[in-house]
Amino acid sequence: MEAPLEPYFAEPDPAVMQFSQHAPLRHAPRAAFPSVPEKVAACRVAILGFGTVGSSVTRLIAENPASPVRLTHIFNRNVARKRAEWVPKDAQWTECFDDVLDSDAEVVVELVGDVVAAREFVRRALEAGKHVVTANKQLIAHEAGELLALARRHGRRLGFGAAVAGGVPVIAGILEGLAADRLEKVTGILNGTCNYILSRMEKDHVPMAEAVREAQKLGYAEADPSADVDGFDARAKIAILAGVALGVSVTPEHIACRSITPLAPLDFEYARELHCTIRQLSVAELKDGQVFAHVQPALVPLTSPLARVNANENMVVATGRYGGNTVFSGPGAGGAPTAVAVLSDVMAIARGHAPAPDRAMVSLPVTSVSRQRNYLRFVVDDRPGILATLANALAREGIDIDAVLQHPGHPKTRLPFVITTEACEADALARAAGHFSQCDFHVEPPLCVAMVE
Ligand SMILES: NC(=O)c1ccc[n+]([C@@H]2O[C@H](COP(=O)([O-])OP(=O)(O)OC[C@H]3O[C@@H](n4cnc5c(N)ncnc54)[C@H](OP(=O)(O)O)[C@@H]3O)[C@@H](O)[C@H]2O)c1
Repeated sequence: MEAPLEPYFAEPDPAVMQFSQHAPLRHAPRAAFPSVPEKVAACRVAILGFGTVGSSVTRLIAENPASPVRLTHIFNRNVARKRAEWVPKDAQWTECFDDVLDSDAEVVVELVGDVVAAREFVRRALEAGKHVVTANKQLIAHEAGELLALARRHGRRLGFGAAVAGGVPVIAGILEGLAADRLEKVTGILNGTCNYILSRMEKDHVPMAEAVREAQKLGYAEADPSADVDGFDARAKIAILAGVALGVSVTPEHIACRSITPLAPLDFEYARELHCTIRQLSVAELKDGQVFAHVQPALVPLTSPLARVNANENMVVATGRYGGNTVFSGPGAGGAPTAVAVLSDVMAIARGHAPAPDRAMVSLPVTSVSRQRNYLRFVVDDRPGILATLANALAREGIDIDAVLQHPGHPKTRLPFVITTEACEADALARAAGHFSQCDFHVEPPLCVAMVE
């Protein structure tokens, strides 16, 4: 198999060097896309998967003929039904992956989605001497270490900027723009579907089930929405960010996830009274040699930029020891924004940049955040003494109450009210929850949501 390095890749200008956070010096390009395309050798790209993102990447290439990116192949199963008139005529349609491997394509862009098939395609492409760009968060969350090592062994690059926050250049921003800082924490709204659902509940008081149905109708949520609402999608993304920002290798399944599904519109009313809203937050923090990470719904102060992320947008706040908080936000999904992220990785590779960390990561155990303030919402069949019982359960575990909120007008047989606590250890709260569960006045299981500062 030919090692397809054109002069464009091979002739760095040693006078111009750039840094990346985890990598040694990298060479800058002779020319940047698309300002002087006529001087730049074409970068030949094959796309695997002509679905939402694959077709958007193809359209971006087709609509920018001055771009130095040349499409050599579009690979898809049963490819005949995928052919489209507007696709550049010199691109070959194929359902045979060996056509791609045997071609002169320099970069293989993996957009098939399915993890098992993607793993095989990415490995074989790297082994065949191709650079690879992928948007596959599950593949990268679970196998970035191995795949980056494989890429290094073959002297090739692996880019996955589109795997986190779609069109928001958070990975490039961290690796390049924050290279000089020492990042200690990343906090993100990483699932646009959850953010759409929670924003709808907040603004229009629609119940969770209705907001989920709307998200499904709009194509934001799958028929089975659990990967989004239960936090598994965001968990893969925060695991990737932990690697990129904190340099630690985290197994996604070790990150605690809490579902947003028990939330109700009334929680947004109480949250507003506490000058907060509710968002699905993903957090990874490196502290005293330990990684704290979780994905959970949380009360976020209205003054936080995280509270202003609406509809299906994403946001990442990277917290550095020296630079403080840097905020990245924008469209977290969708064909066109994700295609921009994919092609930006292709162009970074063409310029000789590393679009992903290229040093081994430290593997550390993960714990959930241990100490936080809490919002506890109860729905009870009212009778005298309930508040005293709950207050006693909290006091037995040394947990201080901060406030008690109760709105009038609810039936006594289904009475909601809220207790907020001062910061306490998660273990103490779990023990208190054990005491709550022994009480027979609950109409719904008590809800506990973290309150972030
Ligand atoms: N959509 C977004 O907004 C977004 C955002 C960020 C990241 N991503 C990531 O981007 C990747 C692609 O997502 P997508 O939304 O474009 O998915 P998609 O619309 O389902 O497209 C996947 C394409 O790959 C083809 N394919 C699947 N398995 C294949 C196989 N084994 N061999 C050959 N072709 C195969 C599918 O063909 P069929 O038509 O036969 O199914 C389909 O055309 C995923 O990893 C996703 O997580 C997507």
